[in-house]
Amino acid sequence: MDHLAVVDLTDPAFWSNPYPVLAEARNRHPLARGVDGGLIALSFDAVESVLRDPRFLTTDLLAPRGITEGPIADWWGQVMFSANPPEHTRLRRLVSRAFTPRAVESLRPSVVDITEELVTGLVGDTVDLVAGFAHELPIRVMATMLGVPAGDHRRFAAWTADLGLVFSSVHAPELMSRLEAAITGLNGYVAELIADRRAHPGEDLLSGLIAAEADGDVLSEAELVAMVENLLFAGHDTTRSMLMIGAALLLTHRDQRALLSGTPDLAAQAVDEILRFEAPVLGSGRDAAESLDLFGVPVEAGETVTTMSLAANRDPAAFDDPDRFDIRRLGGKLMSFGQGIHYCLGAALARLEGQVAFPMLLERHPHMELAAEPEWVPYASIRRFEQLMVTIA
Ligand code: HEM
Repeated sequence: MDHLAVVDLTDPAFWSNPYPVLAEARNRHPLARGVDGGLIALSFDAVESVLRDPRFLTTDLLAPRGITEGPIADWWGQVMFSANPPEHTRLRRLVSRAFTPRAVESLRPSVVDITEELVTGLVGDTVDLVAGFAHELPIRVMATMLGVPAGDHRRFAAWTADLGLVFSSVHAPELMSRLEAAITGLNGYVAELIADRRAHPGEDLLSGLIAAEADGDVLSEAELVAMVENLLFAGHDTTRSMLMIGAALLLTHRDQRALLSGTPDLAAQAVDEILRFEAPVLGSGRDAAESLDLFGVPVEAGETVTTMSLAANRDPAAFDDPDRFDIRRLGGKLMSFGQGIHYCLGAALARLEGQVAFPMLLERHPHMELAAEPEWVPYASIRRFEQLMVTIA
């Protein structure tokens, strides 16, 4: 082997506090290895180089889990996460015509209403902020964004929640059949929504996606369905994690909580600092399309490099005093939404949800306290707690 540190992601202890291990490895070299020998990019520079380098392509998430055909493989084959140029460029261009900053901003009143309803619904001595708040907000926002009728919200929410199972580190058969059922259910449901919206176009994102056109090119019917499912899948578990993690950080950092409560104008910076300090998504995988040199380490064609946003976000070469949670940081710079051509399409929507949710949560429940120390779920590539119990009164 080489001189790189080995980071053991199979050690459950890693997941409860990954930062000392990552810092030690990153001090040695911008890259480390997993216990399987796979390369891991740690420094801000190294993660950025991999994600911006066209010689790195998306990695196949399903084949290593034995999924090569069926509804899951068909769906995954059409999402932007797994696409490379030129297919990716085409899909991204079309979706960007509909998913504009203006379309996101127009959701603000709905985000405020939904948050208000959820925050008001937090009653009782002790409540779980995951189930009662973090889980619900992003699903309801996306249902509104796509114009899903209220009567269908429950069914729609159950399918959306199940899509995240594709990222489970253990693909047990019963999880796979739940995921398959969610995709099959959504395929039929979204196709109906599309037919309805073709007949009665509205102001919602789905109408925008149907109408999106670039140089005479449009999304096909199957691509539209996959795109909607891509947005649901990408926007739920991630935003849910940001909301639960952010609430926990604010409740455990009293000075920062007081600062945000007293100065709601800090909301944008606070959200970026939450995302930087505890990245909801561990990182991304990329496969080298050709042999290359990465920070002095040879990478063979076909070899996978995993980028670790957690380590990049705490790199002292990129951030002053990176292990300090400080919502007065200017924001903007963070690895949590990725970099390069796959940079998170929904970053503005996620930020909007956080900027509305955190100040409102603190304002409506000024006496909220943690009822129990939240525990990180080990091996979760979208980092989360099973529950976040708080006392309200
Ligand atoms: C705090 C919440 C979120 C986080 C932390 C997050 C994080 C990320 C990251 C790290 C990537 C890059 C993946 C890669 O490099 O392979 C990504 C891509 C993506 N995100 Fe997000 N995301 C969030 C919310 C959302 C929302 C709300 C939506 C949509 C409604 C969304 C839609 C997407 C899409 C479609 C992509 C794929 C883009 C592409 O491949 O070109 N995300 N996200």
